[in-house]
Amino acid sequence: MNRELSMEFVRVTEAAAIACGRSVGRGDKNGADQLAVDAMRKMFDTVNISGTVVIGEGEMDEAPMLYIGEEVGAGGPAVDIAVDPVEGTNLVAKGQPGAIAVIAIAPKGCLLHAPDMYMDKIAVGPRAKGCIDINAPIKENLQRVAKALDREVADLNVVLLDRERHYGIMDEIRSAGARIQLITDGDVNPIVNAGIEGTGVHMYVGRGGAPEGVLAAVAIKCLGGDMQARLCPEDEAQAKRCLEMGIADCSKVLTLEDLVKGDDCMFTATAITNCNMLTGLRYFGGGVRTHTISTRYKTGTVRFVDAIHSFDRKDFAVKL
Ligand code: FBP
Repeated sequence: MNRELSMEFVRVTEAAAIACGRSVGRGDKNGADQLAVDAMRKMFDTVNISGTVVIGEGEMDEAPMLYIGEEVGAGGPAVDIAVDPVEGTNLVAKGQPGAIAVIAIAPKGCLLHAPDMYMDKIAVGPRAKGCIDINAPIKENLQRVAKALDREVADLNVVLLDRERHYGIMDEIRSAGARIQLITDGDVNPIVNAGIEGTGVHMYVGRGGAPEGVLAAVAIKCLGGDMQARLCPEDEAQAKRCLEMGIADCSKVLTLEDLVKGDDCMFTATAITNCNMLTGLRYFGGGVRTHTISTRYKTGTVRFVDAIHSFDRKDFAVKL
C-alpha cells in the first residue's frame, strides 16, 4: 500500500471522532456511534482504495453502514479494512477517558475475519517480543517480560478490563507482585500503549472483543510488539460462526501473524476523549483540534498528527 494512504486514513478517523465529539457525556452511546459511522463511511469514499470491511459494525441485516462485507473506497488497491468508529461507546456516553475512533488496513486477505465474540489476549511491546505465551501461567509471562525489560516484576504495570471474569487472573498478577491498572471499557487503547515505550503500560492481558483484538494486533504489529490471542466461542452458534469465517479450530493460539498476515499493514486512531498518549477533542470558537496516532508496519514510523479543523470550511461539523 502506498504510504500516502496513511494520511488519508488519518482523515477517516478524524472525521469519525469529530462527528461524535459533541455527543461526549450525553448518555447516548448508540447515537454517538451512528454519527461516527456515518462520517467514517462518507470519508472512506474519498480514499483511493478498493476496500472490503472485514471487521465492522455487524452483518448487513443489522448494520446499514460499514457492515461486514461492505465495499468502501474510491477505487485502488484491494484491501481488508477493520473499523471501530467509536471504540468505547460507554466511555463516550459517560464522558470518560479512553475512547478512540480507529481503523486498521492490510492487503486483501491479510486480516483475520474475527467473529463478534470474546477473545483472550496478551500483548507486550517490542522489547518483550517473543517472551509471551498465552498458555503459560501469567506469573511466568510476567517474569519473562520483566527480564526482557530489565526490571523487577513489581515494576510492571498490567492493564486489564475490570470484569468479574478476570478476578482469578487479577489475583495471580497481584500474587506475582506486579501492578494492575483496571479499565472500564476500550481495550484497543491500552494494547497500543503497551506497544509504545514510555506510556507506562507493560502488558495487556484478558478477555475482550475479538474484533477489537484484530484492530489492536495491527497496531502491535506496526509498533514491533507481540501479541497472542485465542477465540472464545460461548455456544454452538458462535463456534459455527468461527467455521463460517474460515476459522476451523477455535482453540488454536493465534499469533500476531495469524491475526494480521504479511508485511504491509497500517493503523490509525483519533482520540475522542483523552487517552494516555493522545489528547481528546478540544473545541474552540469555530473549530476543533484532533490528535491522532498513525503507524505502518513497513517502516515502523509512529506519527502523532495534531490537527486544527475549521467548521466553516468543512462539512462534518455536527450540531446537536
Ligand atoms: P464498545 O463496543 O461499546 O465500544 O465496547 C468495546 C469494549 O470495551 C472493547 O474495547 C472490549 O474488548 C469489549 O468491549 C469488552 O466487552 P465487555 O464489555 O462485554 O466485557
